[in-house]
Amino acid sequence: MPKPIKRQAALRPLSREHHHGLLLCWKIKTGLKNQVEPERIKRYADWFFEQHLTAHFDIEERQLFPILGAGNALVQQAVFEHRRIEELFRSTTDLPVILELIALELDHHIRFEERVLFNEIQQVASDEQLRLLEEIHREVPDSDHWNDKFWEHAAPGANGLDA
Ligand SMILES: [Fe+2]
Ligand SMILES: [Fe+2]
Repeated sequence: MPKPIKRQAALRPLSREHHHGLLLCWKIKTGLKNQVEPERIKRYADWFFEQHLTAHFDIEERQLFPILGAGNALVQQAVFEHRRIEELFRSTTDLPVILELIALELDHHIRFEERVLFNEIQQVASDEQLRLLEEIHREVPDSDHWNDKFWEHAAPGANGLDA
């Protein structure tokens, strides 16, 4: 019998970071829609990447994915998507296209982890592995110390995301 799908305490900080990541995607899309200069959007996206995403990818790859193992197809997909997203963030040409792709692919990656990969990990992880993960990763820093809130004249709730 599979264990019931309920976000274990150990995975909750990563899931909260996923929520912040989905908000980043929404902010990028909102900025593009409202014709905010791509450079302004990219500055925020780069800041978010440095402050939050690199550490998030790192903890997933070092602490979480090994629970399934490097040979697991879902893990391989997730790692491939990490490299692809990093590559997009490093691009400096064609900003509107790059930003659109970042928003699209990061959103897709997060939903894949939440709906598929994390559930799989919860099924196979031992209590000891989950306890260890919980110890390592408890802190979720606030994601929004950024002054240039170019997305603000539209509320996130309007897009089906919790504010
Ligand atoms: Fe990831
Ligand atoms: Fe993630």
